[in-house]
Amino acid sequence: DKNIKILAIESSCDETAAAVVENGRSVKSNIISSQIELHKLYGGVVPEIASRKHIEKINYVIREALNEAGETLDSIDAVAVTYGPGLVGALLVGVAEAKAIAFAKNKPLVGVHHIEGHICANYIEHHELEPPFLCLVVSGGHTHLVDVKDYGVYEIIGRTRDDAAGEAFDKVARSIGLGYPGGPKIEALAREGNKEAIKFPRAKVDDAPNDFSFSGLKSSVLNYLNKCEMKGEEVNRADVAASFQEAVVDVLSTHGVEAAKNLGYRKLAIAGGVASNGAFREKIQTRCREAGIAFYHPSPILCTDNAAMIGAAGYYEYMNGARSGWDLNAVPGLKI
Ligand code: KG4
Ligand code: ZN
Repeated sequence: DKNIKILAIESSCDETAAAVVENGRSVKSNIISSQIELHKLYGGVVPEIASRKHIEKINYVIREALNEAGETLDSIDAVAVTYGPGLVGALLVGVAEAKAIAFAKNKPLVGVHHIEGHICANYIEHHELEPPFLCLVVSGGHTHLVDVKDYGVYEIIGRTRDDAAGEAFDKVARSIGLGYPGGPKIEALAREGNKEAIKFPRAKVDDAPNDFSFSGLKSSVLNYLNKCEMKGEEVNRADVAASFQEAVVDVLSTHGVEAAKNLGYRKLAIAGGVASNGAFREKIQTRCREAGIAFYHPSPILCTDNAAMIGAAGYYEYMNGARSGWDLNAVPGLKI
């Protein structure tokens, strides 16, 4: 039984990342070059700047990933790359690079879905975790409840009707002057606030218990801020952050655990940038314990964008026989 070593590349948004992953679960290296400091200046990710930075950094992160793993372009078994969803110009950098390496070194090429990567991040630190299980993917662009039926076999059973959870964090952070990226800043400020101070709404979608909606919550925060301003009252930003976070985390945890119960699943995992939020983990973990459901989550560094997760997903796709052709293209709106 040969060990399969995958060189994985991720460039869908604002991190340029490369990793070497063995047999889908063992991370030999995980290099991430973050562009956050650059995009901060503009209050969000600027696609054109992201593409240019990826071009500057991609060879460097790949070299680092290979060096740290003690591998070369010749010793790896396959190249996996995120080809969607994401920013088209950003994705293209990784896809072109992966194709060039695979073509030049005559290695199999495996295109990976970014969300599948987030889900598979859970395999890296939980070697006992195997499908089927339910996964709540909560990132800047996605809020999906995914039924993981088998390796590489997914069904989305719930999704947000409007904003993604991370997007809500980012927008509310901006409205209280916290800047980008909002999630970690809200989490930090929330520690100094009272989560019971303001009662923000917990939205349900009629007749679709697995779906989410966060735009009402976001409006409710903006209305609260406007009301304070009109009345000339000073806003306690820490209370706003804590109460907002509590509302998001409450809805995510309730829906996630209810869906697992309804489907008869005994295993629930979380993934994506928002899964690095400590308050979220604590709450959903507690609810899972009460319901007798095993709970899984990746370390924070494997929750936000990285290439190790693409290596994990790429391995299972590779083992399923998935191979991409030289016509592999970036697909910004790729469906799972
Ligand atoms: O998974 P990710 O790195 O990129 C996407 O695929 O979207 O997720 C980024 C999102 C951002 O919206 C960011 O604000 C949010 O995840 N995020 C957090 C935290 N860390 C990142 N949200 C809440 N609490 C955090 N600690
Ligand atoms: Zn992501």
